[in-house]
Amino acid sequence: MSSDGRRHAIEKMRRAGVPDLAIEVFGRYYDQLEAGDTGLVPEDSIEPVLDVTDLSQVRISPDEQAEALSRTVLIKLNGGLGTSMGMDRAKSLLPVRDGLSFLDIIAGQVRHSRRVAGVQLPLLLMDSFRTRDDSLAALDAHPDLAVAGLAPDFVQHQEPKLLVDSLEPVEWPADPSLEWCPPGHGDIYVALQTTGLLDELIERGFRYANTSNADNLGAAPDGRIAGWFAASGAPYAPELCRRTPADRKGGHLGRRKSDGRIILRDTAQTPEEDMRWFTDETRHPYFHTNNLWFDLVALRDALAARDGIPGLPLIRNRKHVDPTDKESPEVYQVECALGAVVELFDDPAPVLVERDRFLPVKTTDDLLVLRSDAYEVGEDYRLRLVPERAPLVDLDPRHYKRIADFDARFPAGAPSLRNARRLVVEGDWTFGAGVVATGDVRLRDPGEPATIPDGTDLAEFAAGQRRDA
Ligand code: UTP
Repeated sequence: MSSDGRRHAIEKMRRAGVPDLAIEVFGRYYDQLEAGDTGLVPEDSIEPVLDVTDLSQVRISPDEQAEALSRTVLIKLNGGLGTSMGMDRAKSLLPVRDGLSFLDIIAGQVRHSRRVAGVQLPLLLMDSFRTRDDSLAALDAHPDLAVAGLAPDFVQHQEPKLLVDSLEPVEWPADPSLEWCPPGHGDIYVALQTTGLLDELIERGFRYANTSNADNLGAAPDGRIAGWFAASGAPYAPELCRRTPADRKGGHLGRRKSDGRIILRDTAQTPEEDMRWFTDETRHPYFHTNNLWFDLVALRDALAARDGIPGLPLIRNRKHVDPTDKESPEVYQVECALGAVVELFDDPAPVLVERDRFLPVKTTDDLLVLRSDAYEVGEDYRLRLVPERAPLVDLDPRHYKRIADFDARFPAGAPSLRNARRLVVEGDWTFGAGVVATGDVRLRDPGEPATIPDGTDLAEFAAGQRRDA
C-alpha cells in the first residue's frame, strides 16, 4: 500500500517537472518515513559543545571586513508560510514598523552595508512556489538592490504532502496547490545545485554565503563576522547565542558520541524525557540561531562527495492539508533543517554572537514586541532594544494567534512596552491608541469582547480589575 504511495508521489513530482536530484532526496526521506524513523537524538548519545569562538573577543580591521563582505552573498530563507500565525503567504511581507515590512527592513540593512563597506553584497531570497510572486512584487519597490546578471531569488522544490494514514499523496481538488509543500529550509542545498546557483556564485568570484531566516531581523549583514569567518578558513560557521533560563527557542549543537561529529539537535529531535536537558542552560549553554556562514567551495566539495545528496536527518512535520482548516485531512510534510548540515563538515567553527542577532518572529507575541516602542530602528535599519531585556508577551491564543485576529485587536498599533517586563492578555480585548504597559501586567478575561480605551495605563487598569474581582 505505502510503496504505491511512494510511486504515486514520485510520479506526481515528475509530472510537475521537479528535478531528478530533488526526487531522489524525497524518495530517501519517504523510505525513512515508511520505516517509522523518528530521528530522535537522546541526551546520552551526545556531549555538549562548549568550544566556541567568542566574537566579542575578535578584532577585525575595517579593510578585512570589507574584503570579506565583497566576496559574500546574503541569502534569506523566505519559503515558509508562517502557518503558526495562520498565514498562507510569506511572513516577510508583514508590516513591522512605520509601514515597512520585514523585506523592506532587510533591504535597508543591505543598502546600508553596501554603502559603508563599498561592496556589492547580493541579496538572494530563497522562495518557494507559494512565496515567490508576492515577494518579487515587493522587491520591485527596491530596484536599486538588483545586482547585474544575478536573479533576486531562487525557488526551492515542491513535494507532495502525504496522508498520515496511508502515506499516499493527498488530493485536494478545492485548491490543488495545497497538495504541495516546500521540503523545509534544508532543501537549500539541493536547490543551490539544481538551479546551478552554487556553481554560478563561485564562478562569479563569491566565496562566502550568510544565510538566515527572513523573519529574523537581527541577522543583518555583518562585516566583523564575515571578516572573522574568512580569516578562520573554516568551511562552515553556525552563529550561537548564550541561552538564558527564559529561552525556549532554538536547537543546540552536540557532539555525537558514536563518531565524534558535531550535529544539530532541534526540538522535534529531542525525546520527551530529555526536554529538560534541551533547555538546560548549564548543560547546553548555547542555542543555534539559524544564522549560518558557508565557504561556498567547501560546501560544493562536501555535496559532491555525496553525489549531491546531503542526507540530512528527516523531520516529520504533521499538519493539515489546508493549514487554516483543522477539519481538513492530516498530512506529513517531509522536511529537513538547514543547520543540520553541520554534520557534513569535519571542522565546523561555531561562533558566539551578541543576542541582538537573534530576533525571530514565530508568533504574534513576538510580533507585538517588535512592533512596539521596545525597539528602535537605526539609520542602519538594525533594530535596537531600548530596555535591557525584551518584555515577555503572552497573548490569549484563542483571540490573537492568527495574524488577522491579532491585527483586528490592535487597530492603532502596539501599546507602549518599553517599560514593561511582562504583558499577559487573557480574553478578547481590543486595544485603543496610546495604551501604555509598565512593569508586570495581567489583563483578566472579561468573558466577552471588550475594549481598552485610548490612552489607558494598563497597570492601573489591571489593578482596577483585581479590586473589582
Ligand atoms: P519557520 O520554521 O519559522 O517556518 O521557518 P515558517 O514556515 O516561516 O513558519 P511556520 O512553521 O509555517 O509557522 C524559518 C525560516 O525558514 C524559511 C521561512 O520562510 C523562515 O524564514 N523556510 C521554511 C523556507 O525558506 N523554506 C521552508 O521550506 C521552510
